[in-house]
Amino acid sequence: MRLGVAILAAGQGTRMRSRLPKVLHPLAGRPLLAHVLDAAHALGAEPVCVVYGHGGEAVRSALAAARCTWVEQAEQHGTGHALMQAMPELRDVDRILVLYGDVPLIASATLRGLVDAAAHTGLGLLTVSLDHPDGYGRIVRGADGRVLRIVEEKDATPEERAIQEINTGFLVGDRARLADWLGRIGRGNAQGEYYLTDVIGLAVDDGVDVATAHPASLEEVAGVNDRVQLAALERHFQRRQAEVLMRAGVSLSDPARFDLRGRLSAGIDVSIDVNVLIEGEVHLADGVSIGPNCVLRDCSIGPETQVFANCVIEGAAIGAGARIGPFSRLRPDAELAAGVHVGNFVEIKKSQVGAGSKVNHLSYVGDSAIGRGVNVGAGTITCNYDGANKHRTLIGDGAFIGSNTALVAPVEVGAGATIGAGSVITRPAPPDKLTLARGRQVTIEHWERPKKKPKPTE
Ligand code: UD1
Ligand code: CA
Repeated sequence: MRLGVAILAAGQGTRMRSRLPKVLHPLAGRPLLAHVLDAAHALGAEPVCVVYGHGGEAVRSALAAARCTWVEQAEQHGTGHALMQAMPELRDVDRILVLYGDVPLIASATLRGLVDAAAHTGLGLLTVSLDHPDGYGRIVRGADGRVLRIVEEKDATPEERAIQEINTGFLVGDRARLADWLGRIGRGNAQGEYYLTDVIGLAVDDGVDVATAHPASLEEVAGVNDRVQLAALERHFQRRQAEVLMRAGVSLSDPARFDLRGRLSAGIDVSIDVNVLIEGEVHLADGVSIGPNCVLRDCSIGPETQVFANCVIEGAAIGAGARIGPFSRLRPDAELAAGVHVGNFVEIKKSQVGAGSKVNHLSYVGDSAIGRGVNVGAGTITCNYDGANKHRTLIGDGAFIGSNTALVAPVEVGAGATIGAGSVITRPAPPDKLTLARGRQVTIEHWERPKKKPKPTE
């Protein structure tokens, strides 16, 4: 059985009050539509068609890398009309599953359940019962419990409006039969639209038994119409991710103040304090602790390493037992070996720092290779940029760089070398020797401070 998917995403989304098309608004850092595409691909569906309309070009270019077939619905005449646009692209499949670009949290397990439920009947709907069904199409069932049709709220009688079982919109059907029913729906309704939901009544007239399935949670079928709903789904999504992590051995000081916009792989006994934002691909080994207010993006942190408050770590790799922060910034290609200490207001970029080395205060280390057991004093700056090109600084094992040193690259400090505080190092500093490059201290004997001239008396 070959399954194709149509994702309806042509709606205007006016209630977002945004220049950005609704389906591009991010949830956990990714466009709503990307989440729906994931759900479709998890089913192995092919092709996956996206029916786009308003802001279409922006949607296509934002998701240019997505594996899907784009179908334009230039004018929006309803959900039935939207699916009609995709039918030519779906001509080779047996079944069609309809998803929505603005309903991002649908679980693939739920969709699988819907597809399975409809395996023999040829048509299936995902429904839920709501205490307040206002605004939704209602599922009208006969005395025997069989689905008879869907009535849209605007077309419903007061009795029908009292029905609590609603149409989530998710539907699966036999392709050939759907094509036939779609060809027979009209737009003689309150909204003058082609309602996809009208295929249900036509199918029942043809003797088809309509299967129903149900989602595991209401959030799965919740659509995003405005930013309030978007924020609510974001919180729900984050809570779910947090629970998965906690069950796997990660302590979160407050799961409500944890945001994962990407993928986190974590060992056991990892602890994460409040207001930590994790983006991209992040790996935290066993026993890592992350202090409050940190941003971690595309980085990996070795076992037992402690990251204190307010660090921003991006594209860096940190070894075991390191101590980072508070207030450290590690930028792309910072590679810190085991036991490295990096302290406050230290920025490290594109540099290797060897085991046990320390850069504890107020430093910039860029384009450098620092050996093992090096002590980089407070205020040390690698002057890696000459205004046109970047150059490297090499510091050998066991070197000691005095405070407030400027290392003007390209430059090399030998192993075991000591650099006197306040030096501007522009030439190689030999190993195991003290090198100084600063004005010599002098004391002027017999010098006197100037005294104020007495004011002339009038
Ligand atoms: C639809 C259902 C309703 C269901 C509700 C669930 C119909 C007629 N009604 O109502 O039974 O309870 O969803 O939320 O299907 N779209 C297009 N092109 C169009 C029109 C819509 O792509 O021409 C897309 C929208 O972008 C949206 C989805 O289809 O993602 C649903 O459209 P919407 O207008 O929200 O449908 P409702 O009237 O809410
Ligand atoms: Ca809707």
